[in-house]
Amino acid sequence: MITHTFSIAYNEYSGTDQLSTEDKTLLQEAWTACESAYAPYSKFHVGASVRLANELIFKGNNQENAAYPSGICAERVAVFSASATYPGVPIRSIAVVAKTDVFNLSNPVTPCGACRQVIAEYEMLSGEPIRILLQGNSDKIWIIDGIANLLPLMFHGGELKK
Ligand code: THU
Repeated sequence: MITHTFSIAYNEYSGTDQLSTEDKTLLQEAWTACESAYAPYSKFHVGASVRLANELIFKGNNQENAAYPSGICAERVAVFSASATYPGVPIRSIAVVAKTDVFNLSNPVTPCGACRQVIAEYEMLSGEPIRILLQGNSDKIWIIDGIANLLPLMFHGGELKK
């Protein structure tokens, strides 16, 4: 028997001071998107912004539905919008922010499993890690260098060719 272990990591910042201008802008764009989230059922507002290798930024927010499973997360709205408009252009980074008036959200929100899988797809496509920036209702920011830190042992297209 062999036990395989993973080491995963994320970096925590206490505010935007140490971030690059590009990262600050990306977070700001995610907050702008968060303002227009359609979340009447959960009251949990999420915004996402994607920076492409061509430096263009695409935004998304969660879109809920009376038939709950028909809704979709902010991350997938942003990523699919970017890929639909610029297919094949690598995604460099994605910022995800969340806020709710219903309770205190001091820790950043991390993407759900389905969104992790979607981010993994585009990372595999380009072969370059996608940086993931996260912020909640506080100054705390988490930055993750690549989806493997969120989705170890991920399923990917290569498995379908074996
Ligand atoms: N949600 C997102 O948009 N992204 C996440 O990373 C977590 C969850 C949305 C889905 C739903 O509209 C609401 O937040 C509550 O789950």
